[in-house]
Amino acid sequence: MIDNLESIAKVLIASHKGILAADESTNTITKRFDVLGIESTEETRRQYREMLFTTAGIENYISGVILFDETIRQETEDGVSFVDVLKEKGIIPGIKVDQGKEAMQSSPEEMITKGLDSLAKRLQEYYKFGARFAKWRAVIKISEKLPTEECIEKNMSDLAQYAKICQENDFVPIVEPEVLRDGSHGIDRCYEVTKKVLEKLFEKLSEAGVDLKGILLKPNMITPGEASEEEMDPEIIAEKTVECFKAVVPEVVPGVVFLSGGQTEAQACENLNAMNKNYTDLPWQLSFSYGRALQNSAMRTWNGKDENVGEAQEVFLNRAKLVSAGREGKYSIEI
Ligand code: 13P
Repeated sequence: MIDNLESIAKVLIASHKGILAADESTNTITKRFDVLGIESTEETRRQYREMLFTTAGIENYISGVILFDETIRQETEDGVSFVDVLKEKGIIPGIKVDQGKEAMQSSPEEMITKGLDSLAKRLQEYYKFGARFAKWRAVIKISEKLPTEECIEKNMSDLAQYAKICQENDFVPIVEPEVLRDGSHGIDRCYEVTKKVLEKLFEKLSEAGVDLKGILLKPNMITPGEASEEEMDPEIIAEKTVECFKAVVPEVVPGVVFLSGGQTEAQACENLNAMNKNYTDLPWQLSFSYGRALQNSAMRTWNGKDENVGEAQEVFLNRAKLVSAGREGKYSIEI
């Protein structure tokens, strides 16, 4: 079984390719639509995702798509399930399986991810739909006093349990511990917290008996906080991120697929590019599993209107091409 998981993980991190995270919960995508004045209904969300998934040529840059529970059940206007649209292109369907977050009782500013109880049963249904990999996101906040040890302990322990249950049900778990960019902290503080979080994560994964050859790690890059005075310098971000991962990510992990975490589309390309350009002999692949950094411009161009579908697809394809170039260390603004 693990051979199969390993080969799925390898397809997901094939050269030139990475993952599209299109698994926004209804709440999250509604917030994104609201900013653009797009009404959020089951049908408009379906239309938007149809625009993304039917874009001709995305299979050259995208190896897998993470879906949301509503989306995995939806189909195109012509009645083809989204899962079949993706499979037809050789793209592996994946599924978000965490059920959002709730405040931690002992530290209410911090969040714990929900959904472990019903996980095995839900995975069995998603497997029948055709999903072969899953995603679970835990968030860690930085402030002067945060994160607490307890928050790191609980979230990393749950991530490890999730990963174990995924592997038992033939899913490759994407393990996502996201240290948030919110705040004015500098890059060194992000480094320190991310390192601590990842150390705890790999300790818990090992305790749970998770086979690291059959997972993908989806972390944040090491960057200054969003409101920091420090600049976002791709060379420094690449250096610190690689240094941190070399210290804590075991070599058997096949790939690291970064989240974009509110970076601009250009920053997410430049930072991934700097890592892949400057470090060519790393034990793991450095790829992407971007949500906003692949979708922002395409969503804006689409704007909820049928007549914009063609143009939005061009924008989306071009963005996927640029991110793919970054994944190869070959990104330049002129591409
Ligand atoms: P962003 O790239 O927009 O951070 O989304 C990735 C994701 O899947 C967050 O869970």
